[in-house]
Amino acid sequence: MLLKGIDIMAEAIVSILSQEKEGCAESLPEPFSLIILGASGDLTKRKLIPALFRLWKGGLFPDRWYLVGLSRSPMDDEGFRKEVRESMGSLPAPDQEGFLKRFYYLAGDSQDLRYYLKLKKRLLELDKEHGTQGNRLFYLATPPDLYRGIIRHLGAAGLSRTGDGPGWTRIIIEKPFGRDLASAQVLNREITEVFAEEQIFRIDHYLGKETIQNILFFRFANAIFEPIWNRRYIDHVQITVAESIGIGRRAGYYEQAGALRDMFQNHLLQLLCLVAMEPPATFEADAVRDEKLKVMKAVRPVQMEEIGQCAIRGQYGPGVVDGQEVAGYRGESGVMPDSKTETFAAMKLYIDNWRWQGVPFYLRSGKRMAKRSAEIAIEFKQIPHLLFKPLMSEAIAPNTLAFRIQPQEGISLTFQAKNPGPKLCMDSVTMDFNYRDNFKGVSPEAYERLLLDCLTGDQMLFARKDWVELSWSLITPILEFWQNMPDLDCPGYPAGDPGPKEAGELIERDGRCWRTF
Ligand code: BG6
Repeated sequence: MLLKGIDIMAEAIVSILSQEKEGCAESLPEPFSLIILGASGDLTKRKLIPALFRLWKGGLFPDRWYLVGLSRSPMDDEGFRKEVRESMGSLPAPDQEGFLKRFYYLAGDSQDLRYYLKLKKRLLELDKEHGTQGNRLFYLATPPDLYRGIIRHLGAAGLSRTGDGPGWTRIIIEKPFGRDLASAQVLNREITEVFAEEQIFRIDHYLGKETIQNILFFRFANAIFEPIWNRRYIDHVQITVAESIGIGRRAGYYEQAGALRDMFQNHLLQLLCLVAMEPPATFEADAVRDEKLKVMKAVRPVQMEEIGQCAIRGQYGPGVVDGQEVAGYRGESGVMPDSKTETFAAMKLYIDNWRWQGVPFYLRSGKRMAKRSAEIAIEFKQIPHLLFKPLMSEAIAPNTLAFRIQPQEGISLTFQAKNPGPKLCMDSVTMDFNYRDNFKGVSPEAYERLLLDCLTGDQMLFARKDWVELSWSLITPILEFWQNMPDLDCPGYPAGDPGPKEAGELIERDGRCWRTF
């Protein structure tokens, strides 16, 4: 069941979020309405409803709020509540009812202005009934080809601007934000004609993960790491997001996307920015986002004449994952038998600034890999002089600091220690911090953090217009190169492998190797 055990989790989250320790305060939102476009879709059921429930159950919602679901499916309020209830599994009935009684529904065509005029009327009635003071958050959870029409109609119906009525208005827009630089620019232009940038929340769920938020705390709340966080001490950085799942029922989307659009333009480049950025002057949304933007500006564009040396792609074939035989990508339902869509990509990037000159950042992500594992590893330089050399045959492994994003979230530092016994004998050992053991509780899900931030108007964890365009400008030439060379090989890798051999070569050419996961 989707939300099985959610009540237990909610208790744990209350305890995490309501800690009274200094510095652990959570700001609570003002009264609000949440209008979800695409309310009968998968994202709403799988991610949004569970996150909203946990926030509500955790006491993080104000007394006055309501939700309106919008989609084409003909239903009334009761029908919608029933559908949501069914997806909520085994929650205690009294909890469900207290939550669900705030749900309303309006069916219609999201590309028809009359639907929005009807919606406006309904919202005015509900605002009054619930005392939400006109504060409205629109959530675009529809397929991306509907975004532009929805945005235009929200504007035309007078539902977009803060100041057009009482209260604030905000909009959350899901990825993919465009499919290349040109389409992202068009979408940015059209959305900013209707909404001000302060109202727009471009979601990247990776930024809502606790372990990813922790990167900035680790770097800037400790004095000992920052002095060595640069080219003098760091040899290279590896960012890996490996998934064991395939594409499931998402062939329609994935065939048009591929790994570079799906994972790199957003999640992996955001991780790179968090690792590489300078300390912001304040912990405020634009101060942080300005620093991330500077990193993107300093990333050296990939040169097409050497693309094979710094960007490679791959596609999984049949293989074995978790002991189960699985189909290859071309055998997945909805995928073209001769598809060249990449399900794996690896890149080497350089950041041309004082801190990072000459330090390669190796990025890789793929589907149907041996297991699910996401981590950022900072590999430090070799020691300058090997004191123990005459008696030791092997080189000493360099220190590595690894942020484990998922699963088993934590941070580990690997270093050398003397092995007890013989006089000259040592081994790599690891100092390990584990979230679960240390903080004793369940971390909130990414969508909880992100929804709460939208409701309180904090844009720190959301992609800004300029960042999105810069990230596309880095990725688009590679996509075009791959697309314009139909005969270019898309190397295969058996499902369950760590990627094609070309990915290994990309890093081995530099005398380094990928970490195992
Ligand atoms: C999404 C991608 O953004 O992130 C998916 O569209 C991918 O293809 C998912 O599976 C991975 O997210 P997580 O949180 O499971 O690592």
